[in-house]
Amino acid sequence: MNPEFWHKRWQEKRIGFNQSAVNPLLTEYIDHLDLAVGSRIFVPLCGKSIDMVWLAAQGYDVVGVELVETAVQAFFAEQNIQPIVSQHLENPDIKCYQGQLVDGDEQRTITLWAADIFALTSTDLGTIDAIYDKAALIALPADMRPDYSEQIRKVSDNAPQLLITLNYDQSKKDGPPFSINHEQVQQYYGSHYQICKLASEPSSIGSAPNLKVTEHIWLLK
Ligand SMILES: C[S@@+](CC[C@H](N)C(=O)[O-])C[C@H]1O[C@@H](n2cnc3c(N)ncnc32)[C@H](O)[C@@H]1O
Repeated sequence: MNPEFWHKRWQEKRIGFNQSAVNPLLTEYIDHLDLAVGSRIFVPLCGKSIDMVWLAAQGYDVVGVELVETAVQAFFAEQNIQPIVSQHLENPDIKCYQGQLVDGDEQRTITLWAADIFALTSTDLGTIDAIYDKAALIALPADMRPDYSEQIRKVSDNAPQLLITLNYDQSKKDGPPFSINHEQVQQYYGSHYQICKLASEPSSIGSAPNLKVTEHIWLLK
């Protein structure tokens, strides 16, 4: 998937992946990450997901990365948050948007990089206590996934992760979202993480007529 593919999707507003409600698998299984309040959660390929607002409201700081800058701008505009925008010190094409979510007396920071995930380092992203991968790994074709999983591990120092995948007969439909099975999760992450399937549910995400799609949530530690 080249960058133009995603720029065009956002430009044409073909963003069916963007959910209007918080993902129920996130709210049900977040406790498996054992995070203290104030922990920092990384959301790769974040789009303008409302899940980031929910995570901040739980008392976590959020750091996301999204290729399409208008998606990052839309996130802050829709949440009525005025972000501070800065440029990457070495690459002025990369921008960092940082805003505060105020919830009563609590204030949480949401930092979104408008960048290609492969252009960022662990120094850019800072400490990461956990990762929430929703529609990120499954957005990428098979030939990009080994590099993606390696980059995720490198920038997060193998932080634990909640990973949501879809499984369906790939011969019946093109991705994204792509189908990913247990063996593939094992292939991408098995040498550095213990992988535990937390739940599987029927899904209508990205489905075509008569296609059985199952959504899985994995805990990687
Ligand atoms: C399927 S969408 C999922 C967005 C979000 N996680 C959600 O669930 O709403 C994948 C997103 O990844 C972004 N993306 C694709 N390739 C990327 C890359 N190399 N670096 C950063 N973001 C990327 C796309 O622009 C798109 O918004």
